[in-house]
Formats: sequence, C-alpha cells, structure tokens
Amino acid sequence: MSESEATSHPAFQAILSRRTAHTFRSEPVPEDCMVRGLDAANHAPCHRLTFPWRFLRVGARTRSALAEVAVAIKAAKQPLTGEDVRKVAAKILDPPELLVACQVRVADPFQSREDYAACSCAIQNLCISLAGDGVASKWSTGGLTRDPRAWRILGVDPGLLDVVGFVWVGYADVPGPIARPPLDAVVATLP
Ligand SMILES: Cc1cc2nc3c(=O)[nH]c(=O)nc-3n(C[C@H](O)[C@H](O)[C@H](O)COP(=O)(O)O)c2cc1C
Repeated sequence: MSESEATSHPAFQAILSRRTAHTFRSEPVPEDCMVRGLDAANHAPCHRLTFPWRFLRVGARTRSALAEVAVAIKAAKQPLTGEDVRKVAAKILDPPELLVACQVRVADPFQSREDYAACSCAIQNLCISLAGDGVASKWSTGGLTRDPRAWRILGVDPGLLDVVGFVWVGYADVPGPIARPPLDAVVATLP
C-alpha cells in the first residue's frame, strides 16, 4: 500500500503537525484558538449522542494547588532538592493553558467503553484543531491525573466523572520525527 500523497490536504497537514510537546513557552494562546479547539472537541462523534466529554479550564490559583500535589507525589518516590521542587512545580505552572478532559461516568460497561472512545476522539479533535493554529499540546495521564487529591482540587467527583487526561496547551518547539510502522504493518486488505 502506498503512503498518502495528499500532503497539501489541510486536515491531513494538521494531523501530521500535531505532536506531543513537553516544554511550552509562556506566550499566551489566543482565546479564539482555545474556543475553536474546544468547539472541535465538542464535534467529536459519540455513539447514541451521549456527549460524554466535559472539559475544565484550569486557572492559576487551581494550578498552584495542583503543583503542591505534584511535588508531594514526586517527594513520596525520592528525596527532592529545592531545585527539584521548582522544576516539578514549573511543569504545572508554566504552560499557558491546562485543560482537564473528563468523561461522564455511567454504570453500563459497554457504554462506558464507547464513551471513553468518544472522549478520546474529542481530545484528538482538540489537539488537531490547535495544531492547525500552530499551537502545541500534550495529552497526559501522569500520576497527577489519577490522584484523588488532584480530583478534589479540580472539583471532580469520582462518582460522577473520570479524568481521561490533562491536556497541556501552548506554543512549543516541534519534537523530532518518531518512527511509525509502515501502513502495510497496520492495515490488512481483505478480498
Ligand atoms: C492516552 C494517552 C496518554 C498519554 N499520556 C502521556 C503522559 O502521561 N506523558 C507523556 O509524556 N505523554 C503522554 N502521551 C503522549 C504520547 O507519549 C505520545 O502521543 C506518543 O509519544 C507519540 O508522540 P506524538 O504525540 O508526538 O505523535 C499520551 C498519549 C495518549 C494517547
């Protein structure tokens, strides 16, 4: 199977330019890019029109509290110097935008699986829309996203919502290419 030649296709270009960034500049992201990204997320497909995604936009005061939890998580694993503490906190405080993507909890395991798929589509739509605007992102499921102290700070009731991931957003340098499997390795064509 030949690789796509539609390299000038705008959606394809945005998909290719979406890469996980790890360090963000402090330069603010224009509000229209954020709103467009969230609108793109809200246009994700969802089976039975459950619209299971919820996004929190996390401001500076809330992030300061999250940074303390991030430091506590790290300190429980290893002794930290003052510089370590500063670095861990900076990861939470420095990116210009933090979104928390949540999934509305439901009792039925099949619907929950379908809703998780839909939330993942929503996050990807968000990140692709941002990439189309030249804005980088990082979808994270690190320890902070799974810590009940962080949920409390965010006002996430674990009986009602699951945190699907944090999405860090900002301007960043594009990371180098990563090796991906060729299409032939991941696509089978049946007669
Ligand atoms: C569900 C999910 C969780 C992720 N969690 C993390 C994470 O906790 N930390 C991280 O550095 N990257 C995380 N990533 C980003 C992946 O590491 C990244 O997508 C992968 O390395 C491929 O790079 P790319 O996004 O630039 O194509 C996550 C991605 C997904 C889809």
